[in-house]
Amino acid sequence: MTTAPSTASSAVPSTDSPQRFLTGITTTGTPHLGNFVGSIRPSVAASRLPGVQSFYFLADYHALIKCDEPARIQRSTLEIAASWLAAGLDPERVMFYRQSDIPEIPELTWLLTCVTGKGVLNRAHAYKASVDKNEAAGHDPDTDVTAGLFMYPVLMGADILMFRTHKVPVGRDQIQHIEMARDMAQRFNHLYGEHLVLPEAVIEESVALLPGLDGRKMSKSYDNTIPLFAPREQLRKLIAGILTDSRAPGEPKEAEGSALFQIYQAFASAAETSALRQAYADGISWGDAKQLLFERIDQEVAPMRERYHAFIDNPDQIEAILQAGAQKARQVASPFMAELRQAVGLRRLGAPATVKKDKTAKTAAPAFKQYREADGRFYFKLLAADARLLLQSQGFDSPRDAAQTIKLLQQGGPAALASLQGQVEAAQGIGDSELAVALKFFTDPSP
Ligand code: TRP
Repeated sequence: MTTAPSTASSAVPSTDSPQRFLTGITTTGTPHLGNFVGSIRPSVAASRLPGVQSFYFLADYHALIKCDEPARIQRSTLEIAASWLAAGLDPERVMFYRQSDIPEIPELTWLLTCVTGKGVLNRAHAYKASVDKNEAAGHDPDTDVTAGLFMYPVLMGADILMFRTHKVPVGRDQIQHIEMARDMAQRFNHLYGEHLVLPEAVIEESVALLPGLDGRKMSKSYDNTIPLFAPREQLRKLIAGILTDSRAPGEPKEAEGSALFQIYQAFASAAETSALRQAYADGISWGDAKQLLFERIDQEVAPMRERYHAFIDNPDQIEAILQAGAQKARQVASPFMAELRQAVGLRRLGAPATVKKDKTAKTAAPAFKQYREADGRFYFKLLAADARLLLQSQGFDSPRDAAQTIKLLQQGGPAALASLQGQVEAAQGIGDSELAVALKFFTDPSP
């Protein structure tokens, strides 16, 4: 639930709560076709599925690890935001925010840092690649390696775990990071109780890695990318530059291992793809194949390209969208972070100490529970520290309405109760004073 109440007992959403998908793009560089195929497109599609709640964010803290050019970070943030919106992301429907607008993320990063083995981080691919490179060159292993690069997986773990993410659509190169996030969550839960959800990577099999112009993975670092919103003529030129073998027109060509073919496959239907496979076998010229690819991509990209430019020309509009997104995301992050702080012992000095790994500790405080009934409506109840029913809501049309009412009660305390006559009802035998004591817990958790 987006706005789950902040009590420990609500930490693990019930299995019928929506599947939460989350993905981030580091804000360096300009979005390319590989980003579109590997991340933006499947994410936007997933965001439209019923029963799915999606989180998309601009990973600008991650960008600082690789990039020390402020203007580039800013420009890239704008371009990536514009790209996702142009690709059909609906900010009303999903959480769309900028990582650095959520202070709870670096806060959680620290908690996770403290449960992550240094040896685990030593094995992270990106860090290890830098170290290996240094060693191969006969340098000190840590030459030009920042602690930021070393800590990259922990920051990413915080991105994911902050929102109790179930699924993370990523490229294959990121699987290790998701596994690390799982390990962090497991370790944290082992130490402090079941608070964090263990995430899973989702790889779209057919298109997980798009090759670039030179046939290697399309990547900024190989300088072999095709910008997603390159003007039509530039797109044509870039596609003409895709590396092929030297087979002449009329000679049969291999679809397997052909970068051109793989890129086509990522945009075409199964039928179109098998038609091109046949054309390869029949000896289509590389020039014709490139023309086919160009038209196929342009067909998909052209309408988005127009929307993209409208957004780029209006950065204030995107800024406003991101601010609204941050506000929504923090409605989730902030109470959850409060729960996690409580769990690890960063708490008011008078608050009751819970015993580590004691399952009963989780019910040592009053808690709101949100749920859905067979009538399709959304309800909540307030349970006492000893799990007795204190307060019962009537049905709400949406989980959001229920969550908002919970929030009113949590923030307004006993005073809010009076204004919610008809929406909530005290349970049998529960008096005003008992309710008041329980509600006071949420504004002032000291006993
Ligand atoms: N590391 C990811 C990449 O380079 C970007 C990223 C940051 C991310 N945080 C994330 C992706 C959380 C998914 C989930 O592509």
